[in-house]
Amino acid sequence: MTMKNVNPTETKAWQQLTAHYNATNNIHLKSLFNNDADRKNKFTINFNEFEFDYSKNRITEETLKYLLELANEVDLKGAMDAYFSGEKINKTEGRAVLHTALRNQSANEIITDGVNIMPDVKAALNKMEAFTNKVVSGEWKGYTNKSITDVVNIGIGGSDLGPDMVVESLKYYKNHLNVHFVSNIDGDHVQEVIKNLNPETTLFVIVSKTFTTQETLTNATTIKNWFLKSASQNDVPKHFVAVSTNLKNVSEFGIANDNIFPMWDWVGGRFSLWSTVGLTISLAVGFENFNNLLIGAFEMDEHFKNTPFEKNAPVILSLIGIWYTNFFHAESEVILPYSQYLSKLAPYLQQAIMESNGKSVDRNGNRVNYQTGNIIWGAPGTNSQHAFMQLLHQGTKLIPADFIGFKESLYGDKDHHNKLMANFFAQTQALAEGKTKEEAHLDLKTAGKMDEIETLLPYKVFEGNKPSTSILINKLTPKTLGSLISFYEHKIFVQGIIWNIYSFDQFGVELGKELANKYLKTSNL
Ligand code: F6P
Repeated sequence: MTMKNVNPTETKAWQQLTAHYNATNNIHLKSLFNNDADRKNKFTINFNEFEFDYSKNRITEETLKYLLELANEVDLKGAMDAYFSGEKINKTEGRAVLHTALRNQSANEIITDGVNIMPDVKAALNKMEAFTNKVVSGEWKGYTNKSITDVVNIGIGGSDLGPDMVVESLKYYKNHLNVHFVSNIDGDHVQEVIKNLNPETTLFVIVSKTFTTQETLTNATTIKNWFLKSASQNDVPKHFVAVSTNLKNVSEFGIANDNIFPMWDWVGGRFSLWSTVGLTISLAVGFENFNNLLIGAFEMDEHFKNTPFEKNAPVILSLIGIWYTNFFHAESEVILPYSQYLSKLAPYLQQAIMESNGKSVDRNGNRVNYQTGNIIWGAPGTNSQHAFMQLLHQGTKLIPADFIGFKESLYGDKDHHNKLMANFFAQTQALAEGKTKEEAHLDLKTAGKMDEIETLLPYKVFEGNKPSTSILINKLTPKTLGSLISFYEHKIFVQGIIWNIYSFDQFGVELGKELANKYLKTSNL
């Protein structure tokens, strides 16, 4: 199996999409709905507890036909087979991309470099489970024989954002442990976290795939020194554990061998929350919930792997994203979860998506002559409605939006939830339909503002035709969250394949690191 490295703009489908865009880009969503009573059904994919409603996108069946042809012309299927089977598709780093193996629930072997990695994956999960149970039950004791009350995750990027986002998202399922995250090299961050902690009852989880990251090692050293003010070196094993691929550096740091949770180079940092990098998640919500997160992700993997493209949620929504980026020239996408629990989803996806697809050299080594990764941003509704939604409704930019909502709330307050979801549906409708001059005129008249109609009218019109996708999920559970994250991971993969870029390296972050080191050595900071 080898991936085809096709410049997408040289495909027949791209030419068809260009012509199709020129012929249809003015068509209003309102008329698309008026002309097809079945549009919502036609453009909805149901999967387990999910409903992906993409009917409010500026597409027709013809658009999808060409987009699917594009996927076939670049051999998306072949690339997917290579991705799941452990081929080294991260060619620039010479690695396989196997975060899907971390949640594999089947009995199938997954082989990379001639070795079945599943026994190691299972062994790491067993170790996480045993450790989690000991800490949560209170059996694991600190240096004064007290149980653990607080857990601090020390990491940055993928070693922070994923665990932090999941712990926040699953707050409802949390146990008694207080969980904290330290990431920034800004010393005030670490001081704010440790100032109220008791070293006798705190467990520190140092997470760094490489164990060379300046921020993480500096924070870990500061914390260890703080700890050693009240405890001795012999007490370190009771309070410090590490997750890493770099066993040598971890033991040099002074972490006991038994306290090292292994990780592998075939897991990218931004896709690693399913691995031992998720240890803090497991500690916060218990191993069973962590395992359900994996099961949810696996179910989405299976959907992605086995469903024909026309009914495949990650494939269809990736293609629609390509349609906006490369034909409508949209530059950003907004993530709007209608759940306060998902307040960290957009920052998490920023790394996952932008670090993956923010590339400008294609898989043949050439500068791309088309746009690639988008700017990702967002915040929960309804807060976002009172902040930036004005720009989506009446600004000049086309910003496709993902609305993510749940049919049920966790505490079951119907009044709040009905209001929340009324806003969810109202926003998608307002964006799609807008308000015509005639409707605005009537509103002003009804409000008795006859004298002001002429001056106010242009400001009261909403063009509409603003695209959105509604991802409606029964309930926020570890399992549905796992499926949701996995959905976005596969979207990243599909878009990277279509754009003919390498999604799994991140050389762009290195230059700044090198220069910062030079500054440190040479200047009088
Ligand atoms: O600087 C970017 C990056 O390499 C991310 O890709 C990664 O998630 C983060 O740094 C942290 O890396 P590590 O887990 O090796 O400390």
